[in-house]
Amino acid sequence: MKEYNVAIVGATGLVGNTFIQILEEVDFKIKSIRFFASKRSAGKVLYFKKQPIVVEELNENSFDGMDLALFSAGGAVSLKYAPIAVSKGCRVIDNSSAWREDPSIPLIVPEVNFRDYSMNRLIANPNCSTIQSVLPLKALDDAFGLNRIIYSTYQAVSGSGQKGKDDLIRTLNGEEPKFYPYNISKTCIPEIDVFLDNGYTKEEMKMIHETQKILHRPDLKVTATCVRVPVLNAHGVSVFCETKKKASLEEVRSVLEKFENIVVLDDGKNHRYPTSIVANGTDQVYVGRIRQDLSNEYGICFYCTADNIRKGAAANAVQIALKLAQSDEM
Ligand SMILES: NC(=O)c1ccc[n+]([C@@H]2O[C@H](COP(=O)([O-])OP(=O)(O)OC[C@H]3O[C@@H](n4cnc5c(N)ncnc54)[C@H](OP(=O)(O)O)[C@@H]3O)[C@@H](O)[C@H]2O)c1
Repeated sequence: MKEYNVAIVGATGLVGNTFIQILEEVDFKIKSIRFFASKRSAGKVLYFKKQPIVVEELNENSFDGMDLALFSAGGAVSLKYAPIAVSKGCRVIDNSSAWREDPSIPLIVPEVNFRDYSMNRLIANPNCSTIQSVLPLKALDDAFGLNRIIYSTYQAVSGSGQKGKDDLIRTLNGEEPKFYPYNISKTCIPEIDVFLDNGYTKEEMKMIHETQKILHRPDLKVTATCVRVPVLNAHGVSVFCETKKKASLEEVRSVLEKFENIVVLDDGKNHRYPTSIVANGTDQVYVGRIRQDLSNEYGICFYCTADNIRKGAAANAVQIALKLAQSDEM
């Protein structure tokens, strides 16, 4: 069985730490592992399977001899260093938004479009809210065809990285916010990433474009409103979708239940529905509150949750790496 030399770029961050944790959990054969971050964290000691590993400052030689690099250090680092890693023969799975909309770069959710990987050694990992939404949407698109999607998100502060978690804890302790524009312990904030000229935020446009790309449906009508909520971890997304073929609730439940890594929790009267609490620390997507839209006979509504750091980032990337290794395509 082949073993791989692995580089974690952004190892000291929330996603980077979760890469390390997940690589400890899964059966991915590792010959060597190196941790990279900025100058600020160089020299810090992290652990992999109880072995101390010193964090190194990322530089152009960091990828020499590496087979796989998992990037989670922001777009600027990915834009500069991912092509360097690729030029050295390394497979790169990038968590930033730097390459996601590039038509030549595959954007992959393994349960949905793993076969989109190509000989291009760079793969983009989608946005966290998009990943959890496209599992149920793929199931529904295959079964009934989709015409239109309306997303409303309820995104946890961990989606902003460590700074977001710190700001929620700080403001819960009665201190002033230092990161979000408002006190996140007291309000939801309908601003994620920067505002664009069309009135949408960049996060909302990411959800729109990434959904169309992953589902291979550039014609699909999608709109989104993205909101940060005072929850530490695990995003919620409320989804309305309009199908081409009429679908009964039983049929909808049945296709969702059969889809890989979806857990249907849909018994409202007994308080069984997706929450951030149930999703936290897991790699599944929880789907519930499944309803026929009363205002549209082709409309289906549901709510889904997932751990944005695991399934929405690190676990999705590691699943891609595992599948590549199984297909001998690493
Ligand atoms: N949080 C999520 O839910 C989520 C989901 C999907 C994708 N992502 C993406 O993943 C990336 C990281 O997110 P995060 O939440 O883990 O953020 P984070 O907790 O703030 O961590 C950022 C990491 O990047 C490193 N870094 C920053 N500047 C660097 C540089 N110039 N050179 C090398 N390393 C550098 C930091 O190292 P230092 O310790 O040296 O500062 C740290 O390890 C972002 O692109 C984000 O968009 C996040």
